[in-house]
Amino acid sequence: MSERTIEFEVLRYRPGTDPEPTFQTYRVACQDDWVVLDALNHIKDTIDGTLSYRWSCHMAVCGSCGMQVNGEPKLACKAFVRDYGGRIRVEPLATFPIERDLIVDMDDFLDKLQSVKPWIVREDDAKVTEGEGEYRQKPAELTRYRQFSMCINCMLCYSACPQYALNTDFIGPAALALAHRYNLDGRDQGNEERKDVVASHAGVWDCTFVGQCSAVCPKDVDPAAAIQQGKIAATTDFFLGMLMPKKGDK
Ligand code: SF4
Ligand code: FES
Repeated sequence: MSERTIEFEVLRYRPGTDPEPTFQTYRVACQDDWVVLDALNHIKDTIDGTLSYRWSCHMAVCGSCGMQVNGEPKLACKAFVRDYGGRIRVEPLATFPIERDLIVDMDDFLDKLQSVKPWIVREDDAKVTEGEGEYRQKPAELTRYRQFSMCINCMLCYSACPQYALNTDFIGPAALALAHRYNLDGRDQGNEERKDVVASHAGVWDCTFVGQCSAVCPKDVDPAAAIQQGKIAATTDFFLGMLMPKKGDK
């Protein structure tokens, strides 16, 4: 297996201790089949044990190793070093506050995710809780939302989104895609509960359809398409509500 020495310029920062972020350079002899995560693990194991970053699965499933690689949001376990030149710059995901080195603060993303209730909401789930059976689906029903269900919460789409960078009130690509995923699920009855967040100004209407979220998504979720479909659904709901107001609506 061929080997190549690559210089990794890695951002280092400990808020409260370091006056500002700085880059530290490590020279690493990389195997041709290594991904950036392999190089970081090599640095941590053999050169500098203080380097901090998140990872778990090494197979693009857990979503924890998102970082900027040469300025683009990538999963470090999916970014092959052979696709880059002799120098690779590694930084924490853009837009999020840095907790330490390549680790970012996920609280804002997790709050937004929670706000759209990304789970199946049932008015009456007795069928499951009382052991009376399952809510079954046909393959065609699964196909409606399957793509949007592939999200691994890696936050690459947020770091690529110019709207989120300008306005962190924006609920953002992944949370809106997951809201849409559950709204499309035939077992779910939570559309009304999600509406205040999804159809608000900070929800789908804040998206200016740049599409970078879909371009960087490592799981082909296509959050931009989910958000545009969400706009159509919100508009349809609005006009239906005008034509057929429910009891209690003004
Ligand atoms: S939509 Fe794609 S890029 Fe965004 S969090 Fe989910 S998997 Fe990651
Ligand atoms: S380590 Fe799990 S997605 Fe990269």
